[in-house]
Amino acid sequence: MSPNDDELALKARFIRNRSLAQTPVRLAIERRVCGCDYGGTSWTTAHEAKQVAELLQLGRGKRLLDIGAGSGWPGLYLGAETGCDVVLTDMPEIGLQIAAARAEADANSGDCWIAAADGAALPFVNGSFDAVSHSDVLCCLTSKQGVLNSCRRVTRTGGRMAFTVISISLGLSAANHERADAAAPPFAGIEASYPNMLEQASWNVTHHIDLTADFLELTRLMMSEEESHAGELRDLHGEAGFTARFTKHGLRIQALEEGLLRRELFAATAA
Ligand SMILES: C[S@@+](CC[C@H](N)C(=O)[O-])C[C@H]1O[C@@H](n2cnc3c(N)ncnc32)[C@H](O)[C@@H]1O
Repeated sequence: MSPNDDELALKARFIRNRSLAQTPVRLAIERRVCGCDYGGTSWTTAHEAKQVAELLQLGRGKRLLDIGAGSGWPGLYLGAETGCDVVLTDMPEIGLQIAAARAEADANSGDCWIAAADGAALPFVNGSFDAVSHSDVLCCLTSKQGVLNSCRRVTRTGGRMAFTVISISLGLSAANHERADAAAPPFAGIEASYPNMLEQASWNVTHHIDLTADFLELTRLMMSEEESHAGELRDLHGEAGFTARFTKHGLRIQALEEGLLRRELFAATAA
């Protein structure tokens, strides 16, 4: 299926953001807000990544697939922390080139492979992985069920998946849905709940953790850090880009406070 205009615009934004995320000022903010410096574009903190490592029961000899891995966060970190082997995939591949350089520099004890691939059409044989992770990826693409199905196919029976996702709350009025949409990542809207989609894809949910309050705190912290680096960020993003970021942070804080948006962590085993 060919991508629509919204998907092409988002892809262009990811390409642009990817190199901006590697600049010293953005890496400094990432360290302060998320506790890492991989040039990440999700909202996954180091604390959450450690939680994911536990939920996935990662360790030496285990093989992890990180989908939408961008420049390697959190897949490379999970490999470094646990010694597991890691396969990173994303589309387009610009982030993966940065991840490859980081993997080489870090020289983790486990193996690392990298493949440009659509999360909904993973190019691996059935049951190739012990574990799968993705960080705020499903809210950045349309084929959510396709990704969950594809993840299930490439995970061995009994294997595990953990992911974070931002979504627009179900059952909102049209006006509130519009407000949530303006504050959310581009494809955060859902028609069915994630537990339903997971069940549909033959995943058994083991953990469902509401991270909305943490995400609200994180967004406030991000906003105040960006305010402290306003000069450098204006140079980086331009006046209009800088203002747009601030406007979005403000809308997001309001939407989170009012329960229009949520961020959740799910863990599941492959049935
Ligand atoms: C919010 S970013 C997260 C990136 C990275 N994991 C991180 O935490 O920084 C979402 C990622 O999903 C990727 N993505 C979007 N659509 C995809 C698809 N259909 N298949 C695989 N990756 C996709 C984007 O390129 C982007 O890197």
